[in-house]
Parts: sequence; structure tokens; C-alpha cells
Amino acid sequence: MTVSSAPGKVYLFGEHAVVYGEPAIPCAIERRATISVEARDDDHVRVQASDLSLDGFTVEYTGTTDDRPDVDVPASLVDAAMGYIDAAVEQARDAADAPDAGFDITVESEIPLGAGLGSSAAVTVAGIDAATRELGAPLSVEDLADRAYRAEAAVQKGEASRADTFCSAVGGAVRVEGDDCRSIDAPDLPIVVGFDGGAGDTGELVASVRALKDRYDFAADTITTIGNIVRRGERFLDPDPSDPAADQSVEERIEEIGRLMDFNHGLLESLGVSSRSLDSMVWAAREAGAHGAKLTGAGGGGCIVALDPTPETLTGLRFTPGCEEAFRAELADDGVRRVA
Ligand code: MEV
Repeated sequence: MTVSSAPGKVYLFGEHAVVYGEPAIPCAIERRATISVEARDDDHVRVQASDLSLDGFTVEYTGTTDDRPDVDVPASLVDAAMGYIDAAVEQARDAADAPDAGFDITVESEIPLGAGLGSSAAVTVAGIDAATRELGAPLSVEDLADRAYRAEAAVQKGEASRADTFCSAVGGAVRVEGDDCRSIDAPDLPIVVGFDGGAGDTGELVASVRALKDRYDFAADTITTIGNIVRRGERFLDPDPSDPAADQSVEERIEEIGRLMDFNHGLLESLGVSSRSLDSMVWAAREAGAHGAKLTGAGGGGCIVALDPTPETLTGLRFTPGCEEAFRAELADDGVRRVA
């Protein structure tokens, strides 16, 4: 049996705009999906998935999604997870030149589905890594990130950036702009995550932003402005020594990053991808004294990310109606981990 894990992520800046070639900065966090893969003698694929959420509901089934018992989670979410697993299997078969390879796959995840923390990218990265190694055809981290991107793009009908999958494969904070993906040296950020217990459909949300952008020039301008926020944000995350931002203390730079996150959230809200519960968690974080707060990922429901070194935001979020869970997220320096 071969086992790989890969981390989830939060977006400090730039989701949605990154789909149109603007830069984005996601950051890997220590919430992982772990995939165990065992090759079979036939060409069947059996999937067992459990704990695909922070709040511990369980989805267990074997075979196709038709065999899935009733579970307390929208069927569309489980179908979405299966879509990513199927796409990962296809990429692994292709990479190993083994079109008839069959697998027994077990998915364990600490990352809620569709909640903006990169569950699909983590499952895809860990799945391709474990399956290719099981077939004796291990990939470099770059090739793994590329294969995982292709799998995500297939599921999201071509509307995906490389950001989530690259971040999950390499870990740490990364900057992605089109095909240009690289790690950046961000300071240790005091990240707090609030989770409303819900989820959004990435494909639908990306399509709704595309429709607004095609209809209104000012929506297209909003996407360009998000790109400008990311460009300013990266100067404060990882300043060039010749940049005046490099003269500021880390605390001052984190304050500016927080202000830019607030701005980024306002623009995502205007593009229609926030929700009442995401907005109320963002406001609760700001009122508790966070340096800044924004939704993370595709939106529609799920998680917000805030910056606060004190315990206040965590406490404030825990008392916010609509917030099911709040936690401090540790940065994940490692991307994919070859566990066994
Ligand atoms: C989803 O986690 C991030 C989006 O920007 C889509 C993508 O980049 O593929 C909304």
C-alpha cells in the first residue's frame, strides 16, 4: 500500500481573479487529506471516503456513487469529491502508461469539502502521488502539480487556475500568475479560520463571476483591481530589499496585509461570491480586532481567513451566530508528504 498526504490552503489574496490571469497568493495550512492506494489485479476502482469534514460527518461507500448510502451531506458534494478522485485516477493511469490499472483507494481528510480550504486540490495531489508511486512511476513535485491542475481543470470544465494544486503540492506560501508558479518567503502569519459549516460549488461560482465579467466592464475592472491588490500584498509579504516595504517591521507589514485582505473581501463581495454567514464572520473578526479578514476560496459559504496574533478573533468567531468552528491554522511548510 502507498500513502500520500497533501495540505489544504487559504487564499491570502486573489481567488477568482487568478482564473483570468491575475496573480494570487494561497498559503498551505496544516489540515491534510491522506490517500492510501493499493493496486488491484483487475481494472476496478473502489473508493472508501471518511471524515471529509472538520465537524466529523462520515461518508463511507465502496464502488460507484450509486452504491453510496444516505449520509448527512449534500449528495452533490460527494459527487464533486468523487469527480476529483476519478480525475486523479485518470491522470495516474496516464502518467504511468497503465490505462487498465485498478486501485483500492481510501480517503481520509481533515479538510471540509467545498469550504474554501482546498479539499479538492489536496485530494487530487495526494491521490495522483500515491497512485503513481503505487504503479512504480513516481512524479517530480512539478509534474505532480501539473497533473493535479489538469485533473482539476477537467472537473471544473477548463475553468481552473494552477493556484490550489500548486500550493498543495509544494506547500508554504506561493504566488501563481497564469503558468508562472513559485514559492514566496512569507513571514509567519497569525492565521485564524472561521467555518460556517457550509460549502459552495466552485464550478458554479466561477461561472457566475465569468458571467458578470462578460456583462459589465466594471466587473472586469474589479478583477483587475483584485490583481493590483495582490501585487501590493506580495510586496509586504516578501519585500524586495530595495522596496520601502522592506524597511517596515513584520508587524507593520502584517497590518498592511490585513488592510489589503479587507479590500479584497469587499471586491469579492461585489462579485457576488460572499454570503451572509461569510460576511458576518468577516465582520466579527474585524470587530474583534483582526488586522483584516476575507472569505477564502470560491466562496458561497465555507470559510473566512483573518489575521490576528491575539486570541480575540478566535473567541469572537466562536460566539458569532453562523460560525460553526474557528481555529488557528498553522502554516504547512511541506506540500505533498510521502507517508508510506
Ligand atoms: C477556488 O479554490 C479558487 C478559484 O480561484 C478557482 C481556481 O483558481 O481554480 C475560485
